[in-house]
Amino acid sequence: MKYRRFGSLDWKVSALGFGTMRLPVLDNNSGKINEPLAMEMIRHAIDEGVNYVDTAYPYHQEQSERFVGRVLKDGYREKVKLATKLPSWLVKEEADFDRLLEEQLRRLDVNQIDFYLLHSLNAKTWANLQGLDVFGWAEKKMVEGLFSHLCFSFHDGYPVFESIVKAYDNWTMAQIQYNYMDKDYQAGQKGLRLAADRGLAVVVMEPLRGGRLAKNPAPPQVEAVWARGEYDWTPAAWAFHWVWNQPEVSTVLSGMSTLQQVEENLETASASGIGRLTEQDLALVEEVRSAYEGLAPIPCTQCEYCLPCPNGVSIPRVFAIYNEASMYEEFHNGRWAYTNQISIEARADNCIECGECEAACPQNIEIIEWLVKSHEILTEPQ
Ligand SMILES: NC(=O)c1ccc[n+]([C@@H]2O[C@H](COP(=O)([O-])OP(=O)(O)OC[C@H]3O[C@@H](n4cnc5c(N)ncnc54)[C@H](OP(=O)(O)O)[C@@H]3O)[C@@H](O)[C@H]2O)c1
Repeated sequence: MKYRRFGSLDWKVSALGFGTMRLPVLDNNSGKINEPLAMEMIRHAIDEGVNYVDTAYPYHQEQSERFVGRVLKDGYREKVKLATKLPSWLVKEEADFDRLLEEQLRRLDVNQIDFYLLHSLNAKTWANLQGLDVFGWAEKKMVEGLFSHLCFSFHDGYPVFESIVKAYDNWTMAQIQYNYMDKDYQAGQKGLRLAADRGLAVVVMEPLRGGRLAKNPAPPQVEAVWARGEYDWTPAAWAFHWVWNQPEVSTVLSGMSTLQQVEENLETASASGIGRLTEQDLALVEEVRSAYEGLAPIPCTQCEYCLPCPNGVSIPRVFAIYNEASMYEEFHNGRWAYTNQISIEARADNCIECGECEAACPQNIEIIEWLVKSHEILTEPQ
């Protein structure tokens, strides 16, 4: 394992961090973690040097924190820094801060959290938390020893990111969505550099854009570019190396869902380094980025923040099918999947346009409009 600086802390973080949002599940139900397998995966990663584990209140239908707490028994807690997140959208009044933190400590069954993040900040959640004096509250909790460092994760545009970073001198870390497709999206490279310049560690999430950049083989237009690459790397390895290449990045979270992915990503992390990619390599990744642009029309990363839909629409699934069909130009398969893999009750035409999903979507996707379009295209007569 390679280790990297973590902002201004006197501690080195493993290049690879374990994200626990996409663990293997049973019966295709994200609330039913395949615990024996997921336990083996996370503990194996820790045995191989991963020293950072990331969870959050809502992951796996609120089962992730409880499960991570069990994984970190038997001496594993001492081997890692543990990060979890205040579900900022559930905070309505000051008393919610304590209530949620206490609940999370209970779920995790720990006395202290290392990195406590304000989860998924955007202009709205940020304004609300500031109004409730989140910093005053957080500083008291740090003195009480309930968590060690205040941090935030982010899903909004760069100007909001800048104002959050500059609003507080004691942020330890920012967690941002960052990969070669999102270089100029949300906080983007500009935000990465700003945060690092101010001494913050930067934790990268969605390095594979939720797995979309790992497709192997990639769509033909993309594959043709990779084929000209210098190394025999998988598309996932290329995507990781692109992130690790940058000095401002502290650790890269991967939401691994199989043991094989854990093995591969450990190996890739071991070969990682700042400045590992040549100018030629970087130009190749730029070409891949261009090849991808336009192929996937809906920027959904399958994070499932839009769920549950009050009317039962399987929003991420509908979008995955539509994007997949568009990227591979396989609308025949897309129509088959839409008809056979999504129940009538969960299809896009059940949307009543209440807009709850749009308010929750970290990508700010115009979900309602895309549901109409997806349904139209995916039900066209063959
Ligand atoms: N704070 C926030 O707002 C927020 C938002 C999103 C994520 N996060 C955190 O950040 C973590 C990382 O984000 P992410 O899970 O979206 O990361 P990601 O690496 O972009 O996507 C993970 C997916 O990539 C695929 N994958 C991983 N390694 C692979 C490999 N070697 N080969 C092929 N495919 C591979 C798997 O997809 P398949 O399962 O399809 O195989 C996996 O589920 C999350 O787990 C979570 O802890 C936080």
